[in-house]
Amino acid sequence: MCGIVGYVGQRKVGDVLLKGLSRLEYRGYDSTGVAYFKGAHIEVKKSEGKLRNIEEMVKRDPSADRLQCGIGHTRWATHGRPTTQNAHPHRTNHIVLVHNGIIENFESIRADMIKLGHSPASETDSELFGFLVLEEEKKGTDFPTSVQNAFRHLEGACSVVVMSEKQPGLIVGVRNGSPLVVALDPQGGAVFASDAQPLLEYTREVFFLEHGDMAIGSEKGITFRDIRTGKEVKREKTLLDWSADKLDKQGFPHYMLKEIFEQPLTMVDTLNGLLDRARTDPFPMAQQPGLAILEKAEEIIFIACGTSWHAALLGKYWLERWAGIPVSVELASEFRYRDPVVRRGTVIIGISQSGETADTLAAVNDMRRRGIPTMAICNVRGSTMSREVDATFFTSAGPEVGVAATKTFYAQMLAVFIMAGYLGLRRGRDTASKIPHIFQQLLKVPHMLESQLQQDGKFVKQIKEVAKRVVAQKGFFFVGRGYSFPISLEGALKLKEIAYVHAEGYAAGELKHGPIAMLDEDMAVVVLAPKDGWHEKTVSNLQEVKARGARIIGIGNPDDDKMKRFSDEFIPLPMPVGGESLDESLYPFLLAPAIQLLSYEIALLKGTDIDQPKNLAKSVTVE
Ligand code: G6P
Repeated sequence: MCGIVGYVGQRKVGDVLLKGLSRLEYRGYDSTGVAYFKGAHIEVKKSEGKLRNIEEMVKRDPSADRLQCGIGHTRWATHGRPTTQNAHPHRTNHIVLVHNGIIENFESIRADMIKLGHSPASETDSELFGFLVLEEEKKGTDFPTSVQNAFRHLEGACSVVVMSEKQPGLIVGVRNGSPLVVALDPQGGAVFASDAQPLLEYTREVFFLEHGDMAIGSEKGITFRDIRTGKEVKREKTLLDWSADKLDKQGFPHYMLKEIFEQPLTMVDTLNGLLDRARTDPFPMAQQPGLAILEKAEEIIFIACGTSWHAALLGKYWLERWAGIPVSVELASEFRYRDPVVRRGTVIIGISQSGETADTLAAVNDMRRRGIPTMAICNVRGSTMSREVDATFFTSAGPEVGVAATKTFYAQMLAVFIMAGYLGLRRGRDTASKIPHIFQQLLKVPHMLESQLQQDGKFVKQIKEVAKRVVAQKGFFFVGRGYSFPISLEGALKLKEIAYVHAEGYAAGELKHGPIAMLDEDMAVVVLAPKDGWHEKTVSNLQEVKARGARIIGIGNPDDDKMKRFSDEFIPLPMPVGGESLDESLYPFLLAPAIQLLSYEIALLKGTDIDQPKNLAKSVTVE
């Protein structure tokens, strides 16, 4: 959950660390810190709060050494409050370290270390690792070997990166669970980080550490060890297809807005990644690994958390309709602690944009250990999940910086849509006969959306105006039926996440079974009712709402006069110019930008921290 960066080489270490941490703040931002060599001494600078709190301190105090070496951290608090004292890096005598993840046996280690005469200065589990290294050093081993042996005492998923004043110019990183990536600096030296983003600044060739790997970085390069055997090992490079320019805001006020606007591109990139566009088959699926597994599936269980779970829910609608496969959609944090009954012929598919979410990883792994075929839908090549499952469908959203998922959700929807279309055709079901036609329409969606997703465009301006008129509502319900139901859940989640307004997503037909009691003029109901098979039913739910005096924000087809009449505010969906109709299965791709922008504009009016909402983190690598 925290962000780690490390650097040894010729560049100015302060700059490398600050830049790296700015790329990682999405992982957590309760406190920040850096540590770097000044001669033989390691200087530690840290503070509670965001990166800007240490920026000045670091810039004012550059290390003038020829060899530049340091580590940095941005924290999302688990053990111990978000204070300066608990911020990383932690120093214990000559050992300075940063840590990501959780040391599960920290209480017993803490008791043992206190018995041995150590006095922890913080409330963290992380600091204890320094004592363990000191204890190992007493046995006469060198610095990297002491780190290796100390790490063997830890239980739980975590990674640590450590420096020692006795070994200037050496950075030792160990991974078990929580991700750690390293790369060679083309100018000489090594860069460490908890994900690949900070490394892209310097190179696209990176090494993803395996569980139980140690990387030792110096001016000369990087060596790898297996900490179980203590032996040196070779690791293969991964070439990343992300370029650094994708990481900048490119003039947008927030990454989230930029990423909402990037969705047409995400769609094109993801389609190009999953389909063989050079072929003209009814369904030109590229040779994805995992097709053979999917084709044999008699049942599918999706496992996911948060926004990814909503994408999975959409998958259920598409797959059941087109492919006639029973689909269950499971919340990872529940599934893994139940006693799930999984029939033979079931395929497990984990959906996780990061591929690092602890609950999803554990749930999918439990199934894999039971011998059940597992697949993933992931946005990050080299991520833990993608390496552990039998096959992965990679989405191509590129790096997503805004904590609230937008374009990665879009790409996930597309991946499950493609799975469903492909399986539908393979199984030759009647309901699948329209699929080639639907796919022709799908290819037009990015162009259509791109023309609408412009800051000064009509669609965006209309949503901005609606937001101004509804921003003062006390609470929001997002309701829809069919394909619009998962999007309603996502709409409510986005609004909660970034605007801190109470919102609930509901199946429109369920409103009358309780929530209707809450409706009055202080409440707003966002009704997602495109002209699909559920339209009439949703419109009658809308009338129930209207009778209770709640403010109605309708989202529907531009020519839907009924919806316009019943709604207090109306957001017309972007539609093909020329009045061509779209298949109803494609509406989620139009509804998603509408609910994302509505939440964004409300948050903007409320003045919240949109890219880094309080208490959240993008990659949740703890349970
Ligand atoms: C966090 C993020 C959410 C995300 C969820 C699952 O809670 O804030 O935006 O949907 O994790 O993440 P994953 O990487 O597994 O898709």
